[in-house]
Formats: sequence, structure tokens, C-alpha cells
Amino acid sequence: MKDAGYEVAVYPGDGTGPEVVREGAKVLAALGEGGPAPWHLTEFPGGGEYYLKTGREWEPEAEAASRSADAILVGAVGWPGATLPNGDIAGRALVLGLREGLDLYANVRPCRLYPGVRHRVSGAYREVWPPSAVDLVIIRENTEDLYAPIHGRLARGGGTELAIDTRVITRKGAERVVRYAFELARARPRGAPGDGVRRVTCVDKSNVLEGCRFFRETFDRVGAEYPELVRDYAYVDAFTQWLVRDPEQYNVVVAPNMMGDIITDLAAVLQGGMGFAAGGNIGTDHAMFEPVHGSAPKYAGKNQVNPFATFFAVEQLLRWLGSRHADARLGRQADRLETAIATTLASGDARTYDQGGPVTTSGAGDRVAAAIREERR
Ligand code: IPM
Ligand code: MN
Repeated sequence: MKDAGYEVAVYPGDGTGPEVVREGAKVLAALGEGGPAPWHLTEFPGGGEYYLKTGREWEPEAEAASRSADAILVGAVGWPGATLPNGDIAGRALVLGLREGLDLYANVRPCRLYPGVRHRVSGAYREVWPPSAVDLVIIRENTEDLYAPIHGRLARGGGTELAIDTRVITRKGAERVVRYAFELARARPRGAPGDGVRRVTCVDKSNVLEGCRFFRETFDRVGAEYPELVRDYAYVDAFTQWLVRDPEQYNVVVAPNMMGDIITDLAAVLQGGMGFAAGGNIGTDHAMFEPVHGSAPKYAGKNQVNPFATFFAVEQLLRWLGSRHADARLGRQADRLETAIATTLASGDARTYDQGGPVTTSGAGDRVAAAIREERR
């Protein structure tokens, strides 16, 4: 526990990033009212638009702060035309760069459909509490696989041109992310909503790929240490059908990086869309939290996008900080935030355009902040 409080480095980034981060800061301020808040936010500029202006993705002090901070919050990066000389998107330092640089090996994507949120497949608004049909967490390996920086291009422009991406799966990388998934399944209060079974599903393509075979073997070896949890397996192609058809059978899911990238966005559809999807990027000593919808340039400056993904990112950040520092204050604040989010969603009065409603980004933030104040009374 840190009496002086926790330092949170905030990178609003590009496009709609600053708009949703402003709402995240607003709900944190509401949580902190009535006492010295045990956190302190410092914002740093950076991203693609910043790169176009300055020729730098961020400043050295912003980079240093990402290492010294207790936790990191990122809005979104990416801006049309903002490309690094090597072809990468400008601003990647703030997302992929932090994942690599701080070794944030587990990408944690909770996927829960809250009452009052419109299901993007059926179009119906959920009305019951507690949520039962969709309540899973996908753990995506976050540092290797096809994201390993081992790429190449030969004979550019020629008839024999070819491009290579190298897929790397290491014992260490697979082991730590699989262990993270089993530890999480052990700690979660419930099993799968459909049958209550505490199940960890390994998603891979081990019928074809050697790296996936290795990943699955690691899953079995580590999973054997958790006899109370059921090990479950799915090839990624079949998994896409099962996830959409029967989401209630899933509890904790673990996958290598690239397949994890794809299935987490698919899963977001089940929680109301990308406007609700938050990701935690967790390492041993550092963690970064982000709404995963991206910078959405066409909505930038319109005060229109859904800020709930950022509220969930803030909730995850508080929970992670609280458990890392054994600081119960933060866990309680995370619970208060989650209750305020759930009440606001259930009321149906904070629906932004993506949910078929008229509410603005700042309007949704105001409602959650008001719900937080309401809980205190
Ligand atoms: C994500 C994103 C990133 C990824 C992009 C922005 C590089 O899609 O966080 O899932 O591919 O990991
Ligand atoms: Mn993605």
C-alpha cells in the first residue's frame, strides 16, 4: 500500500482517445471526492497526430513516465497519414511499444453483457441481472507469436517479391500466459454462466501448426497443477462459431497472440460492441489499460463515441493496482465504479449512438459520475 498514492501515466493519444480519456478522468475524480484520492493522474501527449506535428511519437519524459508510473492508461493511437518511415503506424510506441518494452505479456479482455446493453447480434437489450449469458475473459498472449519483430521483405516490387512474418512461441511466453489464465479462473467468483463449470479453454490451431501444438502442450502441463479447473480445447476456426452460438459455455479462454487478437474483437460483439471492450496489458512489474476501439478518426471531436470501454479500463486499472499493492481501498473503488456503470447501463439513459441512443460522450460520463455520487448518499 502506498500512502502517498499511485502515479498513473495517461496517454490520451489520437482521435477520440482524448475524448474518452477525459470521461475516464471525470469518473475517477467523482470516485476520489470526499477524501484524498489514492491516485494521481499525469497526462502526456503522444501518438500519430503528435508525430505529424513534431516528428516524434512522444517525448523522452513521457516514455520515462511509462516506466516509473504505477499504472498506465492509454486512449487510442493512429491517425490518417501518420506513418513511420518503416511503414508502421506512428503512435505504435504507446501501444505495441509499451507491450514489448514493458513485457506486458497478458492481454486481458473481459467480455460481459450488462443489462440494458443492446446485444449486437440479436439487437435485443438485456434486462436481467446478474448477467448470465455472456461473462467470460479472454487472455491473449501479448508479446510474441506473429507479433515478434522478425519480419522481412525481399525483391521489393519485383516478380519474385515476398514477405515473411516469423511466428515465435516460446516456453516462457506460453507458460506465463497460460498460468495467468488458470490463476484467473481460480480467482474468479463464478464458472461459466451456462453450467457453472470453472473451465479454461485453450484456443489454437494445433491440428496444423507446431507453435500451437507447443502452446497446447504447455496448457496441459501447467493446467495439471489446477485439478479443480476443467481443461477445455477448441480449434480457433470452430471456436468462432461456438463463441457466437453458445457464449455461456465459456469462462476463461487463453490463446496465442494473433488468434487472440481476432477472437477478442469477435467477442466484443457479444458485449455490445467495441464501445464496451477494455483491455488490460499486464506484465510482472507494469500494466497498461486501454479502451480497445481505436482512435476512430471520423468521429474525432464530435463528442459522440461511447466512453464505457474507458470506464471498464479504469475499473480494471484500479483492480490491478489494488491487488498488486494489497490495497483494499482500490478494490472498493473498483467495485463502486462497476456498480455505477451497471446501474447507469441498466437505466438505459446513457446510450450513445452505437447503442441506438442520443447521449453524447460527455453526457455518458456525467451520468456515471452522478451514479457514483448517488451511491455515496
Ligand atoms: C489490439 C489492436 C492492436 C493489436 C493494434 C492497434 C496494433 O488491434 O489491441 O487488439 O493488433 O494488438
Ligand atoms: Mn485487435
